[in-house]
This record gives sequence, structure tokens and C-alpha cells, in this order.
Amino acid sequence: MGKLVIDGGERISGEICVQGAKNAVLPILAATVMADGISVIQNCPKLRDVDKTTLVLERLGSKVVRDGNTVTVDTRDMYDCEICEDLMREMRSSIIFLGAIISRCKKAVVSMPGGCPIGLRPIDLHLKALRQMGVEIREEHGYIKCYASKLTGGNIHLDFPSVGATENIMLAAVCADGTTTISNAAREPEIVDLGNFLNKMGARVSGVGTSVITIEGVKKLQSVEYTIMPDRIVAATYLAASAITGGEICLTKVNPQDMGAMLHVLSEMGVRLRCEKDRITQLAPKRLKSIHTVRTMPYPGFPTDIQSPFMSLAAMAKGTSVFIENIFENRFQHVDELTRMGADIKVEGRSAVVRGVNSLEGANVVARELRGGAALVVAALAASGTTVITGTEFIDRGYENIEKYLSDCGAKIRRG
Ligand code: EPZ
Repeated sequence: MGKLVIDGGERISGEICVQGAKNAVLPILAATVMADGISVIQNCPKLRDVDKTTLVLERLGSKVVRDGNTVTVDTRDMYDCEICEDLMREMRSSIIFLGAIISRCKKAVVSMPGGCPIGLRPIDLHLKALRQMGVEIREEHGYIKCYASKLTGGNIHLDFPSVGATENIMLAAVCADGTTTISNAAREPEIVDLGNFLNKMGARVSGVGTSVITIEGVKKLQSVEYTIMPDRIVAATYLAASAITGGEICLTKVNPQDMGAMLHVLSEMGVRLRCEKDRITQLAPKRLKSIHTVRTMPYPGFPTDIQSPFMSLAAMAKGTSVFIENIFENRFQHVDELTRMGADIKVEGRSAVVRGVNSLEGANVVARELRGGAALVVAALAASGTTVITGTEFIDRGYENIEKYLSDCGAKIRRG
């Protein structure tokens, strides 16, 4: 397991150009298989999850070339429609290939994605919607075998605005017969990016960003070039990294309008923000104020993915904060590790009560999942002394070159 070694106490100040969005590029890379040709994806972050997604593309028979933040995918010789178990287990979000493969091949075999550290991660909403579109699905021996003589559009209502289910339905619907309407659809900005990509390919998707998405089936899609949106969760993580140290930071290539709920919480905690078209400048006070209550919700509510990094902020803020995690059932694993650093946090079910302390101490801590690992980095930057974080494999899934971005802003951080 890789390590990050951080000597805390430095003010994190400077300028960061924010990476492309992991949760936009993964479904967009999957969507490239729906056209025969060469797709060029720009602003693709260098992440372990992207590595695994490109591996899936290659196992399906596509040719992938990566050049810095540009990924070229040639799907003309794609020959397979099965994603093997080891890859599915390595990255459960590969389930997003299901809709794309069925759309192209009218059949698909994937293994049950299984849970992950933050929760069970069921896919019942995905399968229910695909069955409604005419997909025969057999779940046997841990595999999901899908077959559709044709895909038929229809009115699909999601019991929960699931991001992945919304994306899978969009991918299955773009070349289906007739029109598909998704009600109670997820409204995340990454869904908008996927919709924009599909429309550039020649699809007819409307309503993305609202809870009703309409997709008119078309005959054929073209491979295109596309630039991925900025990563709003990574952007907010860097704002937190600077805020916990009383620093001043400027983020470029960001979309402030995608970050309203997160920026609101930061302002309530006492930072001063200036937002322009694609830049955010933040000046933090010496010590942040607590935030009364933070509830994670589907977009445009407060994102579950930033809950743990912001809990690190609250751990050192003046006063008591309450976090309620409504999206995933096991997303407080960073609490034990923050407690080892001196935080005062009590978890009761889906709620965590955080009483701010004056200081945190460096310690040996373990990252058990992606965003919880980021939370430990944020805390370590402000802790007195040295923190060794084990489990960088999790952090590298979502943060490109985190030690470089932070050390360029004054952090004493290195790979151990
Ligand atoms: C996406 O996961 C993101 N991942 C997650 O980011 C993010 O936390 C999540 O959306 C919520 O915003 C990617 O985009 C690759 P969901 P996804 O389907 O699609 C339940 C990160 O750190 N549910 O919206 O899996 C589910 O159990 C990751 O970058 C069902 O019950 O999220 C959960 O409680 C973590 N049945 C809730 O919905 C289903 O069929 C939200 O899940 C599907 C979901």
C-alpha cells in the first residue's frame, strides 16, 4: 500500500488549475463504444479509475492511446460485449458500460459489481429500467446476462435519482426505438456533460440538469472530440485544503455554478470567496467557524463526495457541526482515523457530531476509500507534526498527482 507523508502547519496558498471530472469522463469513455470510429477525449484526468476504464475498453476490442490528458479511443474493431469479473470487482462503476454495450451489441455480460467500502451499491434501479426498455436480463452465478432483440423507448420513473442509473438509461435510450423519458432523473453536472457529449455524437437528449430527461432515439451516432468538464469535487477538496490552513487560493478552469451548495457551506464557515466565470478565489480566516448542520443530498444539494473532506474542516473549526449522510450507508470510515489525530467526533447511525478542537496532531492513519482518504490529506495539512497516510491507491483513484498540486501551493507532502 502506497503512503503519503505530510508535515502539517504550512499555509496552502497559490493557484491550481483543476483537473477534468472523474465522474464525467468515466461514463463518457463508456459511451464511446456506441459509435464506430475514433473518439478524442480532452482534459481527461490521469487517475487509476481512468486506467481501469481504458482497460475495459481494450478488453472489448477498442484501441486506446493516451497522451497526457488526451485519450483517443478507436472502436472500429470492437468485438466483445463481456466485462470480466476481475475488472468489475476492481471498479464497480464499470456497470456504466452496460447501457452502452447493449446499445451497440444488443447483448452484454457483466458480473455483479458488488459493494464497495462506502456501501452495498445495489443496481436494482439500473436493471428495472433496462428490463422496461425490452432487455431480457438473467442474473446467475454472479453474472448479469443481457439480451435485447431491440431496445424500446418508454416512460421510466426512478424511485431514487440515481446518477449511474440515469446514465445507463441515457446510454441505452439514445439509439432505441422511439422516445424515452426519465422522470426523477439525477441532475448532477456530470449528467449534463454526458448529455452534451451524446448530443455532439448526434443523439437527441434534452432536459439534462433537470429531473425530467427526454431522449429521442436516433439511428446512428458519430465518434467525436470532446473536452471534459472540471471536477467540482476535486475543486472543493483543494478549497478545503487551503481553508483549513488559513490560506489564500485561486482555482482556475472551474465551474462555480456547479458548486453552489459547497461554496455556501465554506462561506458559512467564514471564508471569503470571489467567483468569476471559470475561477474561484478564496481567502480563509485563521480559524473557521462550525457549520450547524450539513445534510448530503442529490444535486443540487450538498454532495456526499465532499462530506468527508469538509468534516476535516469542521474537526478544527470553532464550535460544533453535525453531518448527516443520506446517500451512502457507510461513509464515515474516515472518522476513526481523524479521531487518531485528535478530532472529537461522535457517530450515531447516519449522523456525525463534530466538536471542533484547537489543533490536530500528526499520526499514522489509513485511507479506506477515495474521499475519506482526501479527508485525511486535508486534516494532515493543518495537523501539528508529521502524518503518514497509508492507502494512496484509493486517493489516486480520484485525485491526479495530489502531492504535486499541493506542494506547488506550499504543502510539505511527499510519497513515502
Ligand atoms: C455516482 O455513484 C458517483 N460515481 C459517486 O461518486 C457519487 O457519490 C454518487 O454518484 C452520488 O452522487 C460515479 O459517478 C462513478 P447513485 P453511483 O446511483 O452512480 C442507491 C466518488 O467518490 N442506489 O446515485 O453509484 C445507492 O445505494 C463516487 O467519486 C440504489 O439503491 O451513485 C446509493 O444509496 C463515490 N439502487 C444512492 O442510490 C440503484 O440501482 C446513490 O447512488 C442505484 C443506486
